[in-house]
Amino acid sequence: MSRRVLIVDDEKGIREALKQVLEYEEIEVQTCASGHEALRVYPEFRPHLVFLDVKMEGMDGLETLKRVRELDPDAQVVMISGHGTIQTAVEATQLGAYDFLEKPLDTDRILLTLRNALQHVVLVSENVRLKEEVHAQYEIVGSSEAIRQVIERLEKVAPTAARVLITGENGTGKELVARAIHALSPRAAGPFVEVNCAAIPSELIESELFGHVKGSFTGAFADRAGKFELADGGTLFLDEVGDMSLSAQAKVLRALQEGVISRVGAGKTLAVDVRVIAATNKNVAREVRVGHFREDLLYRLNVVPIEVPPLRERRGDIAQLVAHFAAELTRGGLPPKEIEPAAVQRLTAHDWPGNIRELKNGIERLLILAAGKKVTQDDVERLVGGETAAGRRGTADDGEGDATWLRAATFEDFKQAAERAFLLTKLEEHDWNVSETARTLQMPRSNLYKKIERYGLARAGGA
Ligand SMILES: Nc1ncnc2c1ncn2[C@@H]1O[C@H](COP(=O)(O)OP(=O)(O)OP(=O)(O)O)[C@@H](O)[C@H]1O
Ligand SMILES: [Mg+2]
Repeated sequence: MSRRVLIVDDEKGIREALKQVLEYEEIEVQTCASGHEALRVYPEFRPHLVFLDVKMEGMDGLETLKRVRELDPDAQVVMISGHGTIQTAVEATQLGAYDFLEKPLDTDRILLTLRNALQHVVLVSENVRLKEEVHAQYEIVGSSEAIRQVIERLEKVAPTAARVLITGENGTGKELVARAIHALSPRAAGPFVEVNCAAIPSELIESELFGHVKGSFTGAFADRAGKFELADGGTLFLDEVGDMSLSAQAKVLRALQEGVISRVGAGKTLAVDVRVIAATNKNVAREVRVGHFREDLLYRLNVVPIEVPPLRERRGDIAQLVAHFAAELTRGGLPPKEIEPAAVQRLTAHDWPGNIRELKNGIERLLILAAGKKVTQDDVERLVGGETAAGRRGTADDGEGDATWLRAATFEDFKQAAERAFLLTKLEEHDWNVSETARTLQMPRSNLYKKIERYGLARAGGA
């Protein structure tokens, strides 16, 4: 692969000597006599590495380094330092330069630095690739027109610095969209910090967002950084922003307007570089009308709106989502089960008031509870209750007195109740033969014993 190196030095002798050495190594070289020229050439030439003189007329090396890294945060730069500028070169490495070379330049040293730096480039791109794999976790499944529009818009807005307000019902995938925007943005290597504004009591939200200094209020035992500070260089996700108190809204507005924050109880302000993405399931325009949300803040947050449509308006995605979640849950350790086409049809007809989160939980339930090797339409009717699009009643809560999972308050409760029911059935199937049941469930016998004890099944079965 051909490598490109940019040489920036205002001394012609140095440019030519370096160029000669590099070209001998079959590297494609361009030279610039100033920082300004380098900034013009950089975007087109896209060098793998830059050799940059510390001391130049006009824009000096440090300033050029800073600007180059603004153009390309991954730029690899080796500083060239003359006599008396070593201190500056070292400083430059602290600002992100990879290494420095000292004048007079020595061929062996140049080649060594070159080799190391280019190897580093390979490592960096490897890292990017690994990150991309992590991003696959944020994969937004679906090919309906509705979700395609969401994806198209988020891909357009991601590379910019624009604020985004994501709206949509519960469980539609708002957080997923926020994470995807971050992952596709130039800030991807920076932090993604989430704040659930609805979950934090209003008297604590300011400290949560902006931090506090020790002693600023009862319970502030030590200095603490807020989420804005933690998100510096990255993205701050203000989830359920419609639930924020008016006083916190005022502070957030100031942070967005001025780009500075101050910790609660601190006199001084702090500059932060944060991209804010907000989300809410409320109708914010209505909240503004009734005086619960500041209009000026809404304008600041809602630079680019993204509305995530409810699942019932994109039923075409359901089959794909079912396959996606079944595969994901199986990888996570649940028994693999084929989901019959009629079952998928039945799932597609359901109205999903809890949207994709409800669908995901439904699939988990089916994989845990469906008795056979395949998930049937009947299983869906039994286990995924509620209204269908056609207004038919699911049969799940008819009769069956032991269907406690349908009344469970939380999903954790539900899972435990469901597991209990499941183990009970299995034990009964095997006439309470624990070894047999353990084999069927592919579960160590000791685990099964523990569960039997935990759920009080020994008594229930009289074993
Ligand atoms: N299009 C999609 N493809 C794959 N998974 C999805 C999709 N949309 C949502 N999910 C998954 O569904 C679950 C709920 O999504 P998420 O938490 O993003 O929704 P939300 O809109 O933020 O919900 P809430 O309003 O309850 O906070 C998550 O596990 C998410 O990964
Ligand atoms: Mg959410």
